[in-house]
Amino acid sequence: MAIERLVEPTLELDNTEEEKIETSLRPLTFSEYIGQTHLKNNLKLAIDAVKKRGKGAVLDHVLLYGPPGLGKTTMAGVIAHELGSSLRVTSGPAIERAGDLASILTNLKEGDVLFIDEIHRLRRAVEEILYSAMEDYKLDIVIGKGPAARSMRLDLPKITVIGATTRTGALAGPLRDRFGIVHRLEYYKEPEIEQIIARTSKILGTEIKPEALALLAGRSRLTPRIANRLFRRVRDYADVNGDGIVDTVVAEKALDLMEIDALGLDPADRNMLRLMWENYGDRPVGLTTIAALTGDEASTIEDFYEPYLLQMGLIARTPKGRVITEKGRKVVTG
Ligand SMILES: Nc1ncnc2c1ncn2[C@@H]1O[C@H](COP(=O)(O)OP(=O)(O)OP(=O)(O)O)[C@@H](O)[C@H]1O
Ligand SMILES: [Mg+2]
Repeated sequence: MAIERLVEPTLELDNTEEEKIETSLRPLTFSEYIGQTHLKNNLKLAIDAVKKRGKGAVLDHVLLYGPPGLGKTTMAGVIAHELGSSLRVTSGPAIERAGDLASILTNLKEGDVLFIDEIHRLRRAVEEILYSAMEDYKLDIVIGKGPAARSMRLDLPKITVIGATTRTGALAGPLRDRFGIVHRLEYYKEPEIEQIIARTSKILGTEIKPEALALLAGRSRLTPRIANRLFRRVRDYADVNGDGIVDTVVAEKALDLMEIDALGLDPADRNMLRLMWENYGDRPVGLTTIAALTGDEASTIEDFYEPYLLQMGLIARTPKGRVITEKGRKVVTG
């Protein structure tokens, strides 16, 4: 059985409370958006160029990829805001038929931004509609059925598509090629995570001591969503068991309760490392085998556990599979 995880970097979409809080914490401008400097600089330049060109100019399509919770959706909002455009948000799995996308597209205005989350999960037929919309701003539709069917090309408004995906590998080549700007979001540096937590504490009106800030930042898996989530849990703890101020004592106790260790690993990570070590030692092991051991889907391991464990050097990727590193082994054997 897979373990339910507090540090799950994905957002539970049925968890409306969390969604609401996330929305309230989302930076709206480049200056509020902490970190990802390289990405920001590139986007700023592209946006300035669009503005300079004036009427009729639109931003190239943008593809953002990288592990969950690093700020892809947030960045889409910032781009639209900085462009002064409206943002329409949808996702790959949400667009069921080609007609659904057609109706979204025809309802957009010139210069609007269409954000498609989990774009690698678009259905084939929907993807085809997107190709011509992105390339020529045209909509190819078939009217009628059988021998009487005719195809028609309609003009669409010039828009910017922003796609987000946790994996570019899963994206069809022709789709990826239609994005003029392609960027990987990187894990944040700890001082950046500190800034993000400090910002969140201000917005939520909870005081946090500098040492507690550093402690939390160190356990946030270099991921803003997790940093914000841990902060909220620690804040709850401070409200219930203290005077509402987050200091190191409160933070440590709350983190212990959540079973999050000094590396930001939770029981599920440690369980996976232990299973790898106990069953395979220092030999490589395939993704599907790891998944069978932990009881997760292989894609869950690949998208959610592995990126951070790789980033921290606890496991390594080899052509023959994943191996646990010396550092990873220390986590298991203490
Ligand atoms: N650069 C940043 N500065 C401040 N806060 C950020 C930043 N990036 C993300 N956040 C915060 O982290 C939360 C998660 O970010 P976001 O939803 O954009 O991640 P994501 O990459 O879209 O994740 P997913 O792949 O799961 O959709 C946001 O609510 C936001 O408050
Ligand atoms: Mg998102």
